Amino acid sequence: MERTDNNILIHKTFHIEGGNFPNAGTISDQVKKTLKEAGFPNSIIRRIAIATFEAEMNVICYAKQGELSLFITPHSLKVVVDDEGHGILDINLAMSEGYSTADEKIRELGFGAGMGLPNIKKNTDEMILTSKFKQGTHLEFVVYLDRQETHLPFE
Ligand SMILES: Nc1ncnc2c1ncn2[C@@H]1O[C@H](COP(=O)(O)OP(=O)(O)O)[C@@H](O)[C@H]1O
Ligand SMILES: [Mg+2]
Repeated sequence: MERTDNNILIHKTFHIEGGNFPNAGTISDQVKKTLKEAGFPNSIIRRIAIATFEAEMNVICYAKQGELSLFITPHSLKVVVDDEGHGILDINLAMSEGYSTADEKIRELGFGAGMGLPNIKKNTDEMILTSKFKQGTHLEFVVYLDRQETHLPFE
């Protein structure tokens, strides 16, 4: 990824507990709040919030626990999620629209449409997904600020 790791202005890390469905959405809400307070336009916040919610849900649904970090730099918003869990055997399959291994319980809660990972890709400028099967999953995604037409808080 280009120009994302230098000059970090804000870095926040959140813990995500696997299986904690009552908490679903609290991490993405906090990310949203942080970005709102920093003064980012809604168009950017919306993209990161959608991607972050999907990433958070995947840890809750499919992993034991995970950590989600938000990095704000002058040029980008980046989110990195590392989890401990059973991992993903076939990344390409997991990325395909409609593919889901969600069980009955997850589907009853309204999740498991198999659109989470495709939605992360659609809403971000770059996405990297890697996994060690039976160990865990690493996901990162970036939205570049200078590719947006709207006025930004650091300008
Ligand atoms: N963090 C993760 N750990 C293990 N498996 C995952 C993880 N994230 C996604 N997956 C796998 O990829 C599939 C597709 O994910 P996604 O596109 O978000 O759809 P959904 O969550 O609706 O199943 C999931 O059903 C699951 O099998
Ligand atoms: Mg999902």
